[in-house]
Amino acid sequence: MIYFDNSATTKPYKEVLDSFITVSSKHFANPSSLHSFGGQAEKLLSQAREQVAKLLQVRTNEIYFTSGGTESNNLAIKGAAMQYRNRGKHLITTSIEHPSVRLAMEQLEQEGFEITYLPVDEHGRVSLVDIEKAIRKDTILLSVMLVNNEVGSIQPIKEIGELLTNYPTVLFHVDAVQGIGKVPLSLRKDRIDLCSFSGHKFHGLKGTGCLFVREGVRITPLFSGGNQERQLRSGTENVAGAVALAKALRMTFEKGEPGIAHMKQIQGLLRAELSKNAAIHINTPIDNNAPHILNFSLREIKSEVFIHALEEKEIFVSTTSACSSKKKSASTTLLAMGVPETLAESGIRISLSFDSTLEEAVEAAAVIDKTVKQLGRIMNR
Ligand SMILES: Cc1ncc(COP(=O)(O)O)c(C=O)c1O
Repeated sequence: MIYFDNSATTKPYKEVLDSFITVSSKHFANPSSLHSFGGQAEKLLSQAREQVAKLLQVRTNEIYFTSGGTESNNLAIKGAAMQYRNRGKHLITTSIEHPSVRLAMEQLEQEGFEITYLPVDEHGRVSLVDIEKAIRKDTILLSVMLVNNEVGSIQPIKEIGELLTNYPTVLFHVDAVQGIGKVPLSLRKDRIDLCSFSGHKFHGLKGTGCLFVREGVRITPLFSGGNQERQLRSGTENVAGAVALAKALRMTFEKGEPGIAHMKQIQGLLRAELSKNAAIHINTPIDNNAPHILNFSLREIKSEVFIHALEEKEIFVSTTSACSSKKKSASTTLLAMGVPETLAESGIRISLSFDSTLEEAVEAAAVIDKTVKQLGRIMNR
């Protein structure tokens, strides 16, 4: 089997699963319990928090564990909107965000907030000029993703952070779910106030994630309950999941530059091979793109038909984003990039992991080429 759907989810590392099982079976107490057994669990949770904070080069009290990217995005955006609504009711984002950002914004719109959705260029990048033009006196938050989950374009986070130093009352939220460990990010230097992460995208477990909240920034909690996670995120803590997330993040960071270069090499090979087929239109930009995503459209073939044809050969890829892959609609990201509707309806995403190999890429490229030719002939009959 060739698993090229790592942006949808990754396979948990064995060591990560081992930690999860050990903590779940030996340290299963509730960290809020007063007895020493609970104290042990609390200690493990604190250690996981310290480890994540150290890896992200921030303070321990700036990390809050959540259930994943969706929750972190909702907590950051809605929590900030609620907290600062008396200061202003305007938020800015891009037109290519993940639904957990876009739909959170739409919900706020119904509550009386005003949202500006910024366009992107043909490379899937937002412009600094557009951002600056959109900022108003009543703007409270700007939310921009680090890496787009459909095409892999990288947003100019560093430059946006620099720009925002002139606008101290605008909070900066970054959805780093697809980019962490694969493209550079400095929470501190890039002037980021809020940043979302998801464990299962870097070989941790599904249902685990965290939110960075810069010290001094206050956001309103979304859940009412037992006031865990320093009152920001009620609910009994997933200690084993947090330990697993910390381990997965460490192992991801250990892959470093060589791991990234390896993925880039595979991505380059796939791009070169697939470009030879005239029925394939590559959507992922050549520059400023993450090393693990390659998106292309098929000129004549329905993407679902293609996905299932590849699946028969044990090659697993996606149509656009995982969350919308069951809906038959054009990709909002591709449309925003100016890709014609017929091509935007047939987007296919290959997504790699550090464990993907060149051999897999050679085989997948040959099978994709053959399948496109075969299906193209059937469609044209
Ligand atoms: C960019 C981005 N943000 C957020 C999410 C949601 O993360 P989770 O699956 O952990 O809820 C995803 C998942 O695909 C994503 O790609």
